[in-house]
Amino acid sequence: MPDSIVELRSDTMTRPTPGMREAIANAEVGDDMSGEDPTVNELEARMADLLGKEAAVFACSGTQSNQMGVWTHCQTGDEILIDKTGHIGNFEAGAPAVLSGASVRMLDGQGGLIDVDLVQAALRPINQHFTPTRLVCLENSTNIGGGRTYPLEQIERVCAFAHERGFKTHLDGARFFNACTARGYTPREVAAHFDTVSICFSKGLGCPMGSILVGSQSDIVRARRARKIFGGALRQAGIPAAACLYAIEHHIDRLSIDHEHAQLFARGIAEIDGIRINPDEVETNLVFFEIDPACGTAAELSAALRTRGVHINNVGGPQRLRACTHLDVDADGVLRAVKTIAECLAEGPGADRPAASGAYAHA
Ligand SMILES: Cc1ncc(COP(=O)(O)O)c(C=O)c1O
Repeated sequence: MPDSIVELRSDTMTRPTPGMREAIANAEVGDDMSGEDPTVNELEARMADLLGKEAAVFACSGTQSNQMGVWTHCQTGDEILIDKTGHIGNFEAGAPAVLSGASVRMLDGQGGLIDVDLVQAALRPINQHFTPTRLVCLENSTNIGGGRTYPLEQIERVCAFAHERGFKTHLDGARFFNACTARGYTPREVAAHFDTVSICFSKGLGCPMGSILVGSQSDIVRARRARKIFGGALRQAGIPAAACLYAIEHHIDRLSIDHEHAQLFARGIAEIDGIRINPDEVETNLVFFEIDPACGTAAELSAALRTRGVHINNVGGPQRLRACTHLDVDADGVLRAVKTIAECLAEGPGADRPAASGAYAHA
């Protein structure tokens, strides 16, 4: 990242470190579609073990891995229950309907988190009129919900309730290790309650690409078929998988630093007149905040910041912005972003500011 830019739009903006590039360059490879790529095989075995599951399958992206989970559990005509902000239901281009023929019912959770009462209220009799519910999806940490995380007891409650009713459970763990880090839970403690868990390597873990779906042997056999149908089965995939193995060794333990930087940012901007944020609600590396309408719109502030080398997107509403900390942002960058926001607001709303692009608004 050029020193002149503080990149807070998304943790997807991270670039591979020199160490990661070296791991990529030295990757042993084979034909993964034939099960012969040793690096992919090592990654899948490692992740299955880390989460205490039987098997895992490497995927190109979080969207692909989530949708492999949906396809594994659902048949045409089935219904998925998910919070109203959930990525699977909002930002995957209608993939549950397109790829699995499944409809999505949005629940009115808090901070992107749902509890048993909402799932219970969504239950319907088995009747020819109703779409049969098949899958309950949780997101942890939540993205648009606000970077929030589930207490283990809540996960346990929701998943136990879903399983008692014969539903499957899938976790969109795009930022799974951020959630584990924030709550101090082990990956196994969290994963134990889900049939399948999808985890992204291309976000806070800093890899150029790659996600993984973890679950039972039989579910992963089905998910592999989904991956092939979706055109995502690869050949010498050890090249990206080597980056993922590197990230497991070097980039999970450091996520707490991103969370500290998020706190630094949140507490800094909380002092600025015209900014609304409760830093106590910032749990991970995502910081959502609002600009008072009297000070302009989020798009205007985003555009003004951009001209000063601070990249923060307008996300999730006309007054709402999201800053995301990651391994390419240090404490100095965070403090510079805080100072620049204060300067922009001190100057007042600018009618001549260009609109922000919002190109990465939901990643
Ligand atoms: C919560 C969540 N799930 C899934 C995804 C999809 O990941 P990808 O962009 O790799 O498809 C994202 C991406 O931003 C996300 O934030």
